[in-house]
Amino acid sequence: MSNNTTERGSFTTKLGVIAATVGAAVGLGNIWKFPYTAGVNGGGAFIIVYLIFVLFLGLPLIMSEFFIGRNTGQNPRGAFRTLSKIKSWQAFGLLCFICPILILSFYSVVAGWTAEYLWLSVSGDLTGKSAQELSSLFQGFSQDPVRPIIWMILFLILTISVSLGGIKNGIERVSNILMPVLFLILLILAGRSLLLEGAAEGLRFMFQPDFSKITSKVILDAMGQAFFSLSVGMGALITYASYFKKETNLPQTAVIVAILDTTVAILAGIIIFPAVFTFGISPAQGPELVFITLPNVFNQMTGGQLWSILFFFLLAVAALTSTISMSEIVVTYMMEEYKLSRKKILLGLFVVCSILGSLCSLSLGVMNDIRILGRDIFSLVDFTASNILMTLGGASIVIFVGWFVNKEIIYQEMLQGSKMKRSFFAMYYYTVKYIAPVGLITILLSQFGLI
Ligand code: PHE
Repeated sequence: MSNNTTERGSFTTKLGVIAATVGAAVGLGNIWKFPYTAGVNGGGAFIIVYLIFVLFLGLPLIMSEFFIGRNTGQNPRGAFRTLSKIKSWQAFGLLCFICPILILSFYSVVAGWTAEYLWLSVSGDLTGKSAQELSSLFQGFSQDPVRPIIWMILFLILTISVSLGGIKNGIERVSNILMPVLFLILLILAGRSLLLEGAAEGLRFMFQPDFSKITSKVILDAMGQAFFSLSVGMGALITYASYFKKETNLPQTAVIVAILDTTVAILAGIIIFPAVFTFGISPAQGPELVFITLPNVFNQMTGGQLWSILFFFLLAVAALTSTISMSEIVVTYMMEEYKLSRKKILLGLFVVCSILGSLCSLSLGVMNDIRILGRDIFSLVDFTASNILMTLGGASIVIFVGWFVNKEIIYQEMLQGSKMKRSFFAMYYYTVKYIAPVGLITILLSQFGLI
């Protein structure tokens, strides 16, 4: 089936494809979620398990989603329908519709926090504060019933405005310029953090694994984090790849996305953990970790206010390129399956996510006593999407590609735009057919307490 690039639009340049896909992958997941999840799970051992998941599940999943998307040139549901006659596979489409909505809701809350911190950096309100004061500042803000919600809504409006521009004008243009700048800034900050007193201890925490700390929770969290960070298991990359041209080198793009995404996460850790140990903050703080550690680092730097502005600005942009990809999954899906207009879909998405996002935000403050399955709403939404739905989605994708699609079709698609060696393809294929499904089903069963 050929890609209908003229009607749907497509990414124009090779760099555009890479920048936009890396833009979708790199976001708050790398810079906000990775350090705190690693911190809560004890550091080094978690990171090793995480890297194993990126290599053995993440990378094959990226390649599989790329295959499905580009081969069919359709949204996830249409793509599964095109590749298999078995109707029940289309249920996967529903998952690819619900999951991005859930993620977009809690993600916009955190994106709103970065906007507030950008604001505070510009106004100078983060300057000259002690570690203790910075910590209370965050508590006060995140528990406030109004301010974080206003930022969240503004962020959603921004996402939707860029999405209205479509794939080429909106997404590609923003990603092309700003992603490389973000990378550069992270390198500079990592250099600065390594000069802090607690650098050695921070690095030891990250890179000296204590294998006795590996529990089933660590494994689950590492997998959830790998999937979340690489944006796999929910059709985001199927959707993006449906806009790729036939010249795009799928295996190479997949490897580049996995490497860059992982590098950014590790860099974020190298920035944060030295600061954690220098300023006496607990690495197991949880979601506020980045927001209470980094302002301390900026306060120690010459021209700190400027660095702070730059950092939070780019973090907001990284969040934006990810939120756009989430909204794009829903848009492509609804446009193709229900023939609705982009405008209408985005309006609906805005309303749903504003409501759900507000609940997530309030659950950190005034609604904190509401617990469902022992979790507040924010972490329940995160857990359902990142740990349950994405695992389920990932399992569906590998089983589908490994068992329901002809192997030669996959190989031929991979060969378009690449010179993929048969041996590399065989490695990929057997991972997708055997290793990944067994791994994912084991993890799902243990998540539901069945093994
Ligand atoms: N991978 C993005 C991040 O790390 C989040 C994301 C998840 C984006 C799923 C799209 C789909 O921030």
